[in-house]
Amino acid sequence: MKPQTATAPGKIILFGEHSVVYARPAIAVPVFQVHAEALIAPCDDARVLIRACNLAREYALDDAPPNDPLALIVRLTCARLNVAPRHFSVTMRSTIPPASGLGSGAAVSVAIVRALARYFARDLARAEIAALAFETEKLHHGTPSGIDNTVIAFEQPIYFVRGQPIETLRVARALTLVIADTGVAAPTRIAVGDVRRAWEHDRARYESLFDEMGAIARAARDALERGEVETLGELMDANQVLLRAIGVSSPEIETLLAAAARAGARGAKLSGAGRGGNVIALVDTVTQDEVARALQAAGARRVIVTRLEGG
Ligand code: PMV
Repeated sequence: MKPQTATAPGKIILFGEHSVVYARPAIAVPVFQVHAEALIAPCDDARVLIRACNLAREYALDDAPPNDPLALIVRLTCARLNVAPRHFSVTMRSTIPPASGLGSGAAVSVAIVRALARYFARDLARAEIAALAFETEKLHHGTPSGIDNTVIAFEQPIYFVRGQPIETLRVARALTLVIADTGVAAPTRIAVGDVRRAWEHDRARYESLFDEMGAIARAARDALERGEVETLGELMDANQVLLRAIGVSSPEIETLLAAAARAGARGAKLSGAGRGGNVIALVDTVTQDEVARALQAAGARRVIVTRLEGG
């Protein structure tokens, strides 16, 4: 057996976070500037050894706690490939900051599934990889929509509706986005749980806010497919107003959004669960550097510029 590695990118949600949990559409795209990497190597020890380099942890599969996502994905993938989990090590590294809306948990799972499939010389369809990673998303999120594991397994822009066949998106004109980290780690499970409680308390109001978010995601899909960049910026701002209304923005997020707007971004919003994590700003070649600088000056912990190729 030869050692094998595989990677998986990060992701951002362009439109529809939270409402996607309630079966409204959302749009997500991969972010290749950050990634998770899994290395599977043979080992003399009969056990499976897991090394999570970012967490400086090393443990045997059999000693992992029941809710350990790395152990779960290794077990599920071995079962799917019909191989015994024995005599190999799994080494994980990731440049994706955790709990920041960039899909770190899903990327780690997808990288492990891909590396194991390669190690055992097997092919898995992208939809199967996404389905395996979805099982670990449940540990991270509680009630995940499945958008993170899907966009990361497909590595393409997607239009996602929970429980429906996956649709990849054609982006007509290249787009540049600046991603800025508030530096506040905000676990998805907490924001999603708070929104659920608020929805239970006032279903009519929340259903109507989710409807508006869904309508924005549908309009954004048309704008992406027609290359209407200006409209996309406006839709991002409109989506942020609704995200604020459901209570998932934060002072740190608002500070960064205001800085991006002042520096000339076409539109900006939080991305992912909110309360912290990352914001995204739609820019053009003229405003890109100015917006990136403004975000840094406003306190962004790190800034990534990513481009969605069009055509
Ligand atoms: O993992 P995050 O922070 O990108 O959040 C995922 C998006 C949510 O819509 C908030 C949750 C979900 O499961 O879709």
